[in-house]
Amino acid sequence: MTTPRVHPDVERVLITEARIHRRIAALARDIGKHYGDAEVTVITVLNGSMVFLGELLHRLPMPTRLDSVVARSYGAGTKSSGRIRISRQWQLPLKGQHVLLVDDIFDTGLTLKRICDHMRREHPASLRLCVLLDKPTRRVVDLQPDFVGFTIPDQFVVGYGLDFAERYRNLPYIAVLKPQIYRA
Ligand code: XMP
Repeated sequence: MTTPRVHPDVERVLITEARIHRRIAALARDIGKHYGDAEVTVITVLNGSMVFLGELLHRLPMPTRLDSVVARSYGAGTKSSGRIRISRQWQLPLKGQHVLLVDDIFDTGLTLKRICDHMRREHPASLRLCVLLDKPTRRVVDLQPDFVGFTIPDQFVVGYGLDFAERYRNLPYIAVLKPQIYRA
């Protein structure tokens, strides 16, 4: 097999595909230990968590139900507007369920805080957060993810489902783009 070339818009690969896969396998084991045999309702935040969830879900050992929520705050830039809009809500009833909310990245935390606040109104038995990436230095809410893949510095990253203006989601690694791409 030939080594895939790094995308020409990428300045630096932060986390390789192999590291991501190894870490997700370990995360799935931790999550499995936490829940035991209990059924878990996995709610994934679209679109960014699609690739992460695909790799995580089939490794989870406990019974699951799957649903999704669509939330937006970024538009086409790299800064959160701070206004989180839930444009499509989950459909499964959450009352009395163990809910695992899965997202690509925990940045300011505003998106998951908004979704969690909505979910709690349905009185789930428990609510836990799982993210592939955590940028703790950017936090503005009093909420912490329960399961974290990687802690990263305050840099806007793309790949493995994360986008810049809807591009680069298909890169198999997490990377920082060249400054001129963000400026363009
Ligand atoms: P908050 O700030 O609400 O952000 O925790 C969560 C959502 O913002 C997006 N986000 C990023 N997307 N690279 C991206 O491609 C980043 O570095 C980044 N930081 C935040 C993402 O959609 C996430 O769900």
